[in-house]
Formats: sequence, C-alpha cells, structure tokens
Amino acid sequence: MSQTVYLNGEFMPLTEARVPVLDRGFIFGDGVYEVIPVYARVPLRLAEHLARMQNSLNAIHLRNPLAAEEWTRIVGQIIERNAWDDQAVYVQVTRGVAPRDQAFPADATPTVFVMANPMSKPSAEQRERGVGVITAEDFRWQRCDIKSVSLLANCLLRQLAAEAGCVEAILLRDGHVTEASTSNVFLVKNGVIVSPPKDRRILPGITLDLVLDLARNAKLPIEIRPVPEHELREADEIWVSSSTKEVLPVTTLDGKPVGNGKPGPMYARMYGLYQDHKAQIARAGAAHA
Ligand SMILES: Cc1ncc(COP(=O)(O)O)c(C=O)c1O
Repeated sequence: MSQTVYLNGEFMPLTEARVPVLDRGFIFGDGVYEVIPVYARVPLRLAEHLARMQNSLNAIHLRNPLAAEEWTRIVGQIIERNAWDDQAVYVQVTRGVAPRDQAFPADATPTVFVMANPMSKPSAEQRERGVGVITAEDFRWQRCDIKSVSLLANCLLRQLAAEAGCVEAILLRDGHVTEASTSNVFLVKNGVIVSPPKDRRILPGITLDLVLDLARNAKLPIEIRPVPEHELREADEIWVSSSTKEVLPVTTLDGKPVGNGKPGPMYARMYGLYQDHKAQIARAGAAHA
C-alpha cells in the first residue's frame, strides 16, 4: 500500500514526492522537524509539538509558513489518509531552495513535508526485560534544544549504540548526563525520579514532560537537577523516553546490570500511568469523532 504524504500544499503518494537538490535541507541540513505519536488516530500532545516546532523555527530565524490551525488540519488529513490507527507523523520544514550560500536567501519559500509511518512501539520483550544502553561522550553542538534535521552527531552516536547491540547511547557532557542520542533520560534512586534540567544541552522532550506530568499527578517524587555520571552508574532504575519509545526501562549500562538487572517497580508504575493516559486520550478522541 502506498503511503500518502504532504509536500508544499499537495497530498501525494510517497513515491511521487520530490525535493530539488538545492533545497537547503539537503545541502546544509537547514531545517527543523517533529515526530508526533498518534494512537487510535488521535495525535498525542499535538499543540505541544507545534509549540516546540515554533521554538525551533524561531531559534533558526525561519518564519513558520503555516498557522497552527493549518498544521492541525494537515496532520489530521495525513492521519486520515494513511492506513494505520497508530502512526508516527513526521513534519519537516526547511529554509527552501536557493543557490548554495551559507547566508540565508532573501526570498526562498520554506519547504513543508509531512508523512506518516506505522507506529513501531517497543516490543513486549523490551518492556519486560529492559534494554541495553552504552554511554558516550556528548560531542554534539551547543544548541541541542533545537529539533534540527542536522542530525549527523546523533546518527554517529546511535550507530555506536547499534554496533554495541544496544538501543541507545546515554550521553555525558562535562561529567554529567545530558540525554540519549534519540531520547531523554531519567534515573530512579531510593524511590525518587531524577532527570536533568531542560537547557540548551538537551531536547525538551514532549514525552519527558508527559512522564513528569504523570509522575506529579501520581505524587511520585521528582528531582530536576544536574545528574553526575556516578549517579547514573549507581541508579536503581534508568528509563529512556521518546515519542516512539514511550518509556523504556534500561537494564544494562555499558554491559553492567542497572540495579538488580530487571525493570524496577517505579518503571512498572510509570508504564501503567502512561498506558492509562493513552487510553484516556483515545477515548476522548473517539467521543469527539
Ligand atoms: C535527541 C533527542 N532527545 C529527546 C528526544 C525525545 O523527544 P520526544 O519525547 O519529544 O519524542 C528525541 C526524540 O526524537 C531526540 O531525538
């Protein structure tokens, strides 16, 4: 079955979507993106994803080519025109097509691309047994808060993890945990959930905020503060979160067991809260449909 995508004002089969080679997204990685999880055809935290995209666009001095209502309409159409109930909707805006010159073109039209893929949720085995991660030096740039399509450093780091047979690389900068190559990081120590502050060294994850909101509502203790490397290595539990991973338990770190080597009780609690929340959103969506 052919996927339907949106490119610059038109819906079309993925196989027909074409972007000129002088697009600054291709030449410079000059653009931003979002990945929005969709459950039972209802996008999760769409407004928050659109707000984060606006922040990314502001940070790269690129005007948003569409109003929030237009984005909402296009994302809704993409969800409707594709076959799967659970999807990951990908949205990308680049600075458009222009002769190759690093300085911004005066009059380029931003390129807008939206596609959907079937949501590939973590497997039951990953949730029940946990996943392995490695640690790596965070050698990315100083604006990791921008969700930029320039992802070469993230690709190199994620590949390091893949070559070690792991799902993620947890990144360390100046002796502190920042995030992972494609997700945010939490640890649990003595029943307290700890996560690094949202500054320019990490992407402000929408799932990170959701996990923290769920924890707050359930009165689970949280500390947002810098996390030195030794705390990661001494944690009772480690979790990684992202729109497609949801929340996953990490049970080996650099080949050594985390805590007792099994997903912990706080993870079980958070996983339950997360699934309940998704079900609630899907029910509310069905009621509005
Ligand atoms: C570097 C990085 N950090 C964190 C995240 C998690 O963000 P979100 O929860 O919004 O998917 C991602 C998601 O792709 C990411 O690439």
